[in-house]
Amino acid sequence: MSLLIKNGRIITAADDFTGDLLIEDETITAVGRNLPAKADTTIDAKGLLVMPGGIDPHVHLDMPFMGTFSSDTHETGTRAALFGGTTTVIDFVLQKQGHSLHEALAEWNGRASGTAVGDYSFHMAVTDYNDNTKKEIRQMVEEEGITSFKTFMAYKGALMIDDRQMTALMQEVKRQGGLVTVHATNGDMIDYLIAQHRAEGKLSPLYHYLSQPEVTEAEASGRFADIANYTGCPGYIVHLTCEGALNAVRNATRRNQTVLVETCIQYLLLDASLYEKDFDGAKWVMSPPLRKAKDRETLWAGINQGLVRVVATDHCPFLWKQKLMGEKDFSKTPNGHPAIEHRMELLYSEGVHKGRISLNKYVEVASTNAAKIFGMWPRKGTLAPGSDADIVLFDPNEKHTLSAATHHMNVDYSAYEGWEVTGKVKTVLLRGRVAINNNTCLVEKGYGQFIKRNKV
Ligand code: URP
Ligand code: ZN
Ligand code: ZN
Ligand code: ZN
Repeated sequence: MSLLIKNGRIITAADDFTGDLLIEDETITAVGRNLPAKADTTIDAKGLLVMPGGIDPHVHLDMPFMGTFSSDTHETGTRAALFGGTTTVIDFVLQKQGHSLHEALAEWNGRASGTAVGDYSFHMAVTDYNDNTKKEIRQMVEEEGITSFKTFMAYKGALMIDDRQMTALMQEVKRQGGLVTVHATNGDMIDYLIAQHRAEGKLSPLYHYLSQPEVTEAEASGRFADIANYTGCPGYIVHLTCEGALNAVRNATRRNQTVLVETCIQYLLLDASLYEKDFDGAKWVMSPPLRKAKDRETLWAGINQGLVRVVATDHCPFLWKQKLMGEKDFSKTPNGHPAIEHRMELLYSEGVHKGRISLNKYVEVASTNAAKIFGMWPRKGTLAPGSDADIVLFDPNEKHTLSAATHHMNVDYSAYEGWEVTGKVKTVLLRGRVAINNNTCLVEKGYGQFIKRNKV
């Protein structure tokens, strides 16, 4: 089967021209101006942007967490992602402390394989580094195509590793050609502040925010960068939110080390004033919490300075009845918010349409950089002969409003209810198949493939 997309404005991280794109089966075979090609089907993309499918490298689907499971499965989550122009996601496998990486991988494969609608890959979260885990790192990289290892410097007793384990893990991951990623906040400081607030009877969502001040993230980000520099292991900080943490990275990179930064769409758009709405603030109880307006500006600048490489979501949705677990105590509220469907449109609207970032930068942080950093480029993240035909046709002018009444995520509220967005995903191709067209999903459960990744 061949498909020709004609007369679109083709945008990659580097290109911007009006042209055509030829697809044969799952793959792009030609890109250029006035391609002489004929195809079984032709799509006229006049007036539309033609961009690589989005990549969201930070999502939590069907994840056991804080006594419950995140409410999007691999089916509902990857389908919602497709509706929003994201064709590939990277989900997190969580090792259980006292158990192996392979056991955890088997559990996640059981949930994702045959159910995902869009393409997906896994990061492996190492929560218990020991001699057996060390052996498994090589097997993950060489046999499973899992080349990134997630660590938590917080959530003690469940997910956190200490600096001793971090140092040892980094040495091994460097040896095997992988990358260590991190949730960089000081878990001990946060646990102390949570206990202090609870003892004082300060139990509303506002105290979730006040238990994780900027210093807890800045300190851990700097410490992570220092350990990475000592071991020589490439590092990647997930969901960075604030000026203090970005300055720690800025300082570290003076040493010419690799510390890559991801932020998430919510930290660019929302701020901590949302925690003043009593229990409604639970919609945005996530870790790290939303920050101040000055931090948003720092993050937009960080994107343009090239320090912030990726805009992800940390999609981790919970139904309102799950959020109610924390009605009487913020520390019992499952952490996370839904965004997988809205990242591409919100970033376009608030970033490109409002003049904060260029179109090429948009593609870079929403797709290309994640593909490069995580070993999927040039299969994913660009429009070039040989790349998977993962393509978004986007109307830059169509306006619409975000709402729980119309979104496709399995969650009964929207963290962006009523947001007016300029720019809309019209058609999405995943490996050459039209996956989304005019608000309808045309690919079935199980179409999504597991993407093995290369060394970095
Ligand atoms: O609040 C969050 N971010 N929930 C998901 C787990 C994590 O820390 O990324
Ligand atoms: Zn076991
Ligand atoms: Zn995290
Ligand atoms: Zn996360």
